[in-house]
Amino acid sequence: MTQSHGFETLAIHAGQEPDPLTGAVVPPIYQVSTYKQDGVGGLRGGYEYSRSGNPTRTALEECIAALEDGTRALTFASGLAAEDCLLRSLCAPGDHAVIPDDAYGGTFRLFAKVASRWGIEYTPAHAGDLDAVRAAIRPGVTRLVWCETPSNPLLGVADIAALAGVAHDAGALLVVDNTFASPYLQQPLTLGADVVVHSTTKYMGGHSDVIGGALVVNNAELAAELVFHQNAMGAVPAPFDAWLTLRGLKTLGVRMDRHCANAERIVDLLSRHPRVSEVLYPGLPGHSGHDVAVKQMKAFGGMVSFRVNGGEEAAVQVCNRTELFILGESLGGVESLIEHPGRMTHASAAGSPLEVPGDLVRLSVGIESADDLLADLERALG
Ligand SMILES: Cc1ncc(COP(=O)(O)O)c(C=O)c1O
Repeated sequence: MTQSHGFETLAIHAGQEPDPLTGAVVPPIYQVSTYKQDGVGGLRGGYEYSRSGNPTRTALEECIAALEDGTRALTFASGLAAEDCLLRSLCAPGDHAVIPDDAYGGTFRLFAKVASRWGIEYTPAHAGDLDAVRAAIRPGVTRLVWCETPSNPLLGVADIAALAGVAHDAGALLVVDNTFASPYLQQPLTLGADVVVHSTTKYMGGHSDVIGGALVVNNAELAAELVFHQNAMGAVPAPFDAWLTLRGLKTLGVRMDRHCANAERIVDLLSRHPRVSEVLYPGLPGHSGHDVAVKQMKAFGGMVSFRVNGGEEAAVQVCNRTELFILGESLGGVESLIEHPGRMTHASAAGSPLEVPGDLVRLSVGIESADDLLADLERALG
């Protein structure tokens, strides 16, 4: 497989040659911890122990690297395990990171409650405002500039190419959490980012049946550092989890097309609804990041947030009233989900500069029949 192949071809074939022994067209689940050596040090295909490497995981990592147009992907037991590995691989006590002021609550908690105890400092800044990011950078000390685009749950958009310039001018690396867009809609490495982060739990896996994470790079030195830490720290995915994620990836393109189409219908309904005070979606021309999103994304994704007239209680009621939209955390699966970020996914940011508005509702728009989703929301909004 080469990069000249299309995205859907890579999703189905990259890293997934038919099994040389049996011809099986799907990579087997190598449910194994260790490998017979042909004499001491005589490894077959480089495999010695499944924390260090497992063929099912290799297939997944090769596929993700191809989809992100990177040279190396590494996979983990969760998105946060991937982020933790990245932080501890690249930062030492005394180092500093600029993080988005609307970061995913778990990412914020990792910086605020875990990394900071080990001497890694951070400053939240609005990733859509290049001057704010520049001002937050501490020359010579800032090691990472981190962004999520679109962000969770406010759907903020950051200009990846411009942020890469700001980070590189300061000698820092740009990390992009590409979970919301997926590589089908946006490939940050091709825009100048140094590291791509994924919660593969979301669109990549796509079926709400597996937790996982990934890091993708296109620099051999960075890759070697991450490979060392992945093995030394050990938060790797199980072979079955790697296999499930790989199966999900095969349909990423067609799923994303439907997620985006359904989301656009829902945005249209919400934008006209009297109980909705604001719709947050990068596809809307009035969205502050719309022009950047048009430049760097193929379409605008399946995540939609909106604010409800009547405040927090009204927002909570909408979340409690839907039937098809399942009340639950997470996102990116085939089924539609609804949640109240302030009390659910982003509760850990309460009282911090990253606190989200109480009247905010977040939707992960699934791939069900759009008319059914619209009817469910209309009923819930009353
Ligand atoms: C944008 C984003 N990044 C990272 C994560 C963490 O991933 P995981 O839950 O797989 O650890 C999440 C989880 O919701 C997320 O939404």
